[in-house]
Amino acid sequence: MGTTTGELSPGLSLRWQNGALLAVDQRLLPHTCRLLRLDSVDALIAAVQALAIRGAPALGLAGAFGVALSAQAHHRAGTVDEPAVRADARRLATARPTAVNLARGVQRALGRLPQGPQAVLGEARKMVAEDAAVNSAAANRAADLVETLVPDRPLRLLTHCNTGLLATGAVGTALGAILELARRGRVAEVLVDETRPLLQGSRLTAWELREAKVPYRVCVDSAAAAAMSRGLVDCVLVGADRIAANGDTANKIGTYGLALAAARHRLPFLVVAPESTWDESLPDGSGIVVEERDGAEVVRHGDTLVAPADAAAFNPAFDVTPRELITALVTEDRADLLPHATRPSDTGPRPVAVTTSGEDGVFTAAARTSLAELSRELYLRGWMPGTAGNLSVRLAEERAGTALITASGRDKGSLTGQDIVAVDAATGEVRAPGRLKASAETAIHVAVYTATAAGAVVHVHSPYATVMAGRTAAPGRTALLPLTRFELLKGLGLRDPSHTVLPVFPNWPDVRRIADEVAAYLASRPDAAPALLIADHGITVWGRDLAQARSRLECVEAVCQLLVLGAGDGGTEPREDQAP
Ligand code: MRU
Repeated sequence: MGTTTGELSPGLSLRWQNGALLAVDQRLLPHTCRLLRLDSVDALIAAVQALAIRGAPALGLAGAFGVALSAQAHHRAGTVDEPAVRADARRLATARPTAVNLARGVQRALGRLPQGPQAVLGEARKMVAEDAAVNSAAANRAADLVETLVPDRPLRLLTHCNTGLLATGAVGTALGAILELARRGRVAEVLVDETRPLLQGSRLTAWELREAKVPYRVCVDSAAAAAMSRGLVDCVLVGADRIAANGDTANKIGTYGLALAAARHRLPFLVVAPESTWDESLPDGSGIVVEERDGAEVVRHGDTLVAPADAAAFNPAFDVTPRELITALVTEDRADLLPHATRPSDTGPRPVAVTTSGEDGVFTAAARTSLAELSRELYLRGWMPGTAGNLSVRLAEERAGTALITASGRDKGSLTGQDIVAVDAATGEVRAPGRLKASAETAIHVAVYTATAAGAVVHVHSPYATVMAGRTAAPGRTALLPLTRFELLKGLGLRDPSHTVLPVFPNWPDVRRIADEVAAYLASRPDAAPALLIADHGITVWGRDLAQARSRLECVEAVCQLLVLGAGDGGTEPREDQAP
């Protein structure tokens, strides 16, 4: 075994040269890029077991080249010592037990042994060429699928371990898909799990992303679920080491936890791997042998002991994720989607409001999350279909004068805290112009904030209020909808709920004209109800905070439902607004 240096390019993980296998020593990356020259089966097995060569597809290629090394070594006077090569092949195939690709690569190359060492080497080289084509097809297919599942936004992706060029011969699988999405201009950021204990994420994936100039951040494995809960992840992509016939998937330890967290947050969880990673001989994941590695990998960090000297360790290198937690298994030939696989917008992830001391400030981050959460909830209710509706809050204290409002054109079912825009609460001007536009109806929110003490405004297209707006509207003028009888009106918190009146504004094509009419109406009625209707458009309700605005909205919608269902008479007849 000898060493030389190399750089990140196809063939770095493995290539044949002058009778030996050259492979970058993945243990030394990212700081040292050194090639190992492996000229014997023993040297290759040692490199595989030490994870100098690693990653399921790369192990498959290594297995094939290992048979070539053995055939070359046991070739005398035109004859190959087949039993000796088969014995080497058995040792090679079992050097690491979990990735099926290793044994597959060995078997495939062994199939050419009767034709001699050159035929074996030719088969291994053929596998290298196929690997690039196969990974490229799988990566493209997975990238297409991610674009379908998460259509409308710069993507925040999360990945685990290393599934890039280093783990394959070229291109990569899950990381190949991420790089393809980056080439398409879709990637805002990749969160890279460091992948304890051997740090394939922080050492290898981060290095590959850096070389490709794709924005990334490394996180500890245990931050992944928190990132999902805060709405920082749109999709998770991982590779695989063995996939059972039913789709149960073995991959780097930690993958199962990621899949559970992704399911909890209703995020797409994609496995990208070549067909050769499927093991149809196993009906399900229970038969997959999980490699247990030396506990020293866990209790030592480099040369430093990070646990009591006599600590025992549990160090499985892989775990098995059940099929039902995987949104799709993507290969070069197919994307095997769960029958009930849904876009996140169909169900809505459920980020949790958090307090953060990040650049956004403590209150702002929580407010963004609350807006996104309510948006997804009202979407599920059918009140904010597609991109319809908009929500805002006015910030208090050190950020008074600023409102946060949902961005224009965003699908309300998959809104996250990133899809919220900060605007001047008095003018609607965007605070820091960027890629996101504020809601096209920001001016109406501003009119409410200017005339009232509201802390939150909610505008939705709930069906019954929308019907009542249409029935009450007067062409070209503001009409009034009196609501007098229902106990439910108490929910609006007015001093005299028996004389509640809601204005119905014409739906002028120019939003500013609607906003001006709202402003004039509210300015002349300090006791106005905290709700208004716009003809054939929907309802806008406000309150001291989102919770109050939302509960008032529920009351008005419920009253409108009663009216539409025929419960109303007397006092509910529309009348024209007499106000100037
Ligand atoms: O122990 P490793 O580094 O060989 O484990 C690798 C992984 O688990 C990868 O995710 C997997 O092999 C897919 S490689 C495209």
